[in-house]
Amino acid sequence: MRNFNNLKDRGAALLTGASRGLGYELALQLSARGFDMVLSGRDEKALSALASKLPAKAYIYAADLSVPGEAKRLYERIKADGIKLSVLVNNAGIGASGEAWSVPGKTDDDMTEINVISAVTLTKLFLSDACARGYGALCNVCSVGAFQPGPYTASYYASKAYLHSYTLAARYEAKKYGVNVSSLCPGPLDTDFFKTAGANKPKGAMSAQKAAEYATNKFLNGKKTIVPGFYNRLARLVPASIKTRFIAKIKKN
Ligand SMILES: NC(=O)c1ccc[n+]([C@@H]2O[C@H](COP(=O)([O-])OP(=O)(O)OC[C@H]3O[C@@H](n4cnc5c(N)ncnc54)[C@H](OP(=O)(O)O)[C@@H]3O)[C@@H](O)[C@H]2O)c1
Repeated sequence: MRNFNNLKDRGAALLTGASRGLGYELALQLSARGFDMVLSGRDEKALSALASKLPAKAYIYAADLSVPGEAKRLYERIKADGIKLSVLVNNAGIGASGEAWSVPGKTDDDMTEINVISAVTLTKLFLSDACARGYGALCNVCSVGAFQPGPYTASYYASKAYLHSYTLAARYEAKKYGVNVSSLCPGPLDTDFFKTAGANKPKGAMSAQKAAEYATNKFLNGKKTIVPGFYNRLARLVPASIKTRFIAKIKKN
């Protein structure tokens, strides 16, 4: 497997959703490995607090990725400021819970804009530059929810299934240009995610720090699909129909 650690000398790492949770921990991990960080999110105060803790250089670019066109504007602002990127991590994401037809349209629209459209827009812009240059690494944060339908969280799982499939296809295309593309598929994490999605946090959710450390090592070693946690990797062997019934049971409350 190729090692992508040397990218730190060729450009900064753009990370969306850096203000808290998994993104915050990924920023600490990448910065500790020497990457200059371009931190994005809506909460500028939280991003500044994070930037002041990082050992490497950090730039802050506030952006609301639920706004159509904002992902493209974000990328263009960074380029216009002369910052070269060698890494992109599309981590920003939100969830929603409830029967598919009861989730407010605006919630589904925002989620699609953040989880799918913004991530795909940034992927296209980044890969277009990275493949032309012949180096770079991209990680799209998906979920174990990408591997089967998710009753009572239908649109969220569907958004991650879209991004996961898109990411793996892009990986094949980018490989011949020397660019790595990975899909990070965590199981439940101990973050604010469930509160924001109006759902209960599952017992035994993994620490974001642990997931980020594992994921950063695998990503910089070029792994295709990264699943932190032994039991999450084991669960991939269970047929999708069984997992779907299990998810319906635990989410229906
Ligand atoms: N938690 C889990 O169990 C779990 C499991 C599998 C996959 N994931 C995925 O992991 C990623 C990170 O989730 P997390 O657990 O760290 O959740 P989190 O703690 O809620 O953090 C979400 C991040 O996304 C950003 N974000 C939310 N809305 C945004 C918007 N409109 N524009 C720009 N940024 C926005 C937030 O920043 P601001 O609020 O500053 O904008 C925040 O930094 C997501 O893609 C999620 O789907 C999570």
